[in-house]
Amino acid sequence: ARIVPFAHAMQVPPVLSPVSRTDSSDLYQLRMAETEVEIVKGLLTTVRAFGGCFPGPTIRAVKGREVVVQQTNDLDVHTSVHLHGGHVRSQYDGLPMDLVEPGETREYRYPNEQVAASLWYHDHAHGLEAENVYRGLAGAYLLSDPHESGLPLPGGEYDIPLLIRDARIETDGRLVYTDPYECPHMLVNGKERPYFEVAARKYRLRVFNVSPNRHVSLRFADGAPFTQIASDGGLLAGPVELHELTLAGAERAEIVVDFARYPVGESVVLENTAALETERPEVLRFDITRTAEDRSRVPDVLATLPPIPEATVHRDFWLTTFPDTRINGRKYDPDRTDVRTTVGTSEIWTIHNHLTRRPAGVFHAPHSFHTHLVRFRVLDRDGEPVGPAEAGLKDTVAIHPGESVRIAMTWGEYPGEYVYHCHHLVHSSHGQMGRIDVLP
Ligand code: C2O
Repeated sequence: ARIVPFAHAMQVPPVLSPVSRTDSSDLYQLRMAETEVEIVKGLLTTVRAFGGCFPGPTIRAVKGREVVVQQTNDLDVHTSVHLHGGHVRSQYDGLPMDLVEPGETREYRYPNEQVAASLWYHDHAHGLEAENVYRGLAGAYLLSDPHESGLPLPGGEYDIPLLIRDARIETDGRLVYTDPYECPHMLVNGKERPYFEVAARKYRLRVFNVSPNRHVSLRFADGAPFTQIASDGGLLAGPVELHELTLAGAERAEIVVDFARYPVGESVVLENTAALETERPEVLRFDITRTAEDRSRVPDVLATLPPIPEATVHRDFWLTTFPDTRINGRKYDPDRTDVRTTVGTSEIWTIHNHLTRRPAGVFHAPHSFHTHLVRFRVLDRDGEPVGPAEAGLKDTVAIHPGESVRIAMTWGEYPGEYVYHCHHLVHSSHGQMGRIDVLP
C-alpha cells in the first residue's frame, strides 16, 4: 500500500491486567488469535495477535514477584511462547518443540529474579517463529526492580515502549510474509510511521527492534543527541551520549530524550539511516504539543555491573548463510545436543560471521546472535573492546559480515535444555540454531 507517513497517532500498547494475584505472583491469561487491525490508515489487516492487540499487550513485572501466563492458542498454527531475555526454567522457556497446539492452553511461569530490563515475549515454534512474529506474535515485558524504580528517571506516562519493525502491506490490506528487502512499511507499536504527541520534557523511550529480519539505525533528523541508559539485559553502568542507535533484530535500548529543547508547536522526526535506497527513512514523528513539569534526571551512575568471571571453557560458533543457514555447519536438530555445559560454568564464546567462499550475487548477511537463559557481556569485536553502550548486560548481539565477536557468560541456575540462534528469525527458522543442555 502507498506510504503516507504520519497519517495516524502512535498507540502505546495497553498494560495487561492480571486475572488474579497472590502474595507472591500475578496470573495473566492471553489468547493468541487472528484479529483485524488498522496498520496503514484506512486499511484493515489480519494479524496474529496476543490478547487481540498488535503488538501484544505490555506485561509489567516486578522483581521477586512471579508472573504466570496462561496462553491459549486459538490460531490454526502451532505456537510456543518464549520470554526473550528471561531467566526461566527450561519447561517454561518456550522451546521450539514445546508447542502449544491449536486449541490448547499452556502455562508459563516467570520467576523475575533478574535485574530490571525491557524484555519481550514472542512466538518460537520450530520453523514458524519468523512468520508468527512477523504476523504479530510479539509484545513487551517490562521488568522493574527497587533499585531501578528508585532512580529519578522519567516514569509513568513518560516511560514508553517503542516496538519497531518492518512489514509489507498490500493495497487490499493484506500482510504479506516476504523477504525483508520487500518490506517498505515501518511500524511503531503496530502503526505505519505514526506521530506521537509529547510534552517538552524528558522521556524514557524503550526501543525494541522486533523486526524478524532487519536491523535499524535510528537518529533524529536534526541530529539531536540523546542518552542511552540501558541495553537488552538492564541498566548500563552509566549514561552514554549518542546521536545514532543501531539495533539488530531483537536488541533493545532504553534512551532518554529531552524534548524541552524544542518549542511547543515544533516537530522532530526519528529516521532510520539503514533504510534501503528505495525506502523512506522516516520512522516516527514527535510533535511537541505542550509543556509539562519535569523533575526527572539521568544520574551519572545507573548500576553496578557484575564482574566478568574468568572463563574455563572457550567455544567457537561459525554462522553461515551460504549454501544454507547453519551454525558450525549444522542445522538445528532438536534431538541433538550441540553444547553441553553445567550450571555455574563461565564461558567465552567467539561468534564468527565469515564467508569462506562467496559466490557472486550472494548477499553476506549480518547476524543477530541470541542465547536463551543468560545475560552475557560483549567483550570485543575483532579484538577491539566494545564501547560503553555495548558493555552492559546483553542477550542479543549484532555480528556484522566478516566479524568475530567474543561474549562471556556464566550458566546458571536452571539446568535443562535451551537454545541459541540467530535472531534474524528467517535464519533461525531455517535452522541457524543450536541446542544447549545445561547439566546440574
Ligand atoms: Cu527472542 Cu530464542 O528468541
